[in-house]
Amino acid sequence: MLKLTQIHKSFGKEEILRGISLEIPRGSRCCIVGPSGTGKSVLLKIILGLLKQDRGEVIFDGVATSNFGHKEWHALMQRIGLVFQGAALFDSIPIWENVGLRFLEEGKMTKNAIREQVAASLERVRLSPDIMDKSPAELSGGMQKRVGIARAIIHQPRYVFYDEPTTGLDPVSAGAVDELIFELSDSQDQTSVIVTHDLISVRKIATQVVMLQGGKVVFDGEKAAFWGAEEEAVQAFLRRAN
Ligand SMILES: Nc1ncnc2c1ncn2[C@@H]1O[C@H](COP(=O)(O)OP(=O)(O)OP(=O)(O)O)[C@@H](O)[C@H]1O
Ligand SMILES: [Mg+2]
Repeated sequence: MLKLTQIHKSFGKEEILRGISLEIPRGSRCCIVGPSGTGKSVLLKIILGLLKQDRGEVIFDGVATSNFGHKEWHALMQRIGLVFQGAALFDSIPIWENVGLRFLEEGKMTKNAIREQVAASLERVRLSPDIMDKSPAELSGGMQKRVGIARAIIHQPRYVFYDEPTTGLDPVSAGAVDELIFELSDSQDQTSVIVTHDLISVRKIATQVVMLQGGKVVFDGEKAAFWGAEEEAVQAFLRRAN
């Protein structure tokens, strides 16, 4: 389980997060939604240790991260996969090196062993291993996104974080990415956290919906309850989205 307790974060005088508390149970697909600029990406960065909160705790499986050093973060990252906004692939290296990046950096495996892992990871995202030696620029946007997911899950992480996974994709490719997120979390017992603007995705994949606004959690509950929620902030958000 991932738990957040009273996370606060300001930049200068601007208070972005004003006490975020959440529990994301194991196996959930938690979609984090909310208006632009409410701090969704900031929250994601705090969870992943890329930004430091002013107050509050991020607790992974009972272990708080606020006093982590480099070594502890490194160990935790073995259990985490991150799918960046955009595909964020390196154009100058082939697909297999993009997907196998973490193993290449560790330097513990042979090239052939890494290529085998890459092939398996590509298959998990329904891409043919035949594309391994292509360059990212040779693939469509939807395929690049899948490659980004293959890279994030190559080490079979317990937690996978997605920042805007369907933004910029056509509806068909976006739907395929949604299906993939769904399948991966089901088949690999992953906990997924998806920051998204895309309410079609939320409808398809979420087990839990969290809405942030004004630095606070204004909704946290099951998907079915979100569309019928009485909170004015939720209703206004859904009206604007339609
Ligand atoms: N490193 C930073 N330094 C100063 N201000 C920042 C920094 N990072 C984010 N902010 C500010 O924090 C606020 C929240 O930003 P954030 O990117 O988390 O919004 P968001 O909810 O992800 O929006 P979007 O839906 O548009 O992606 C913004 O006002 C932004 O300008
Ligand atoms: Mg963002």
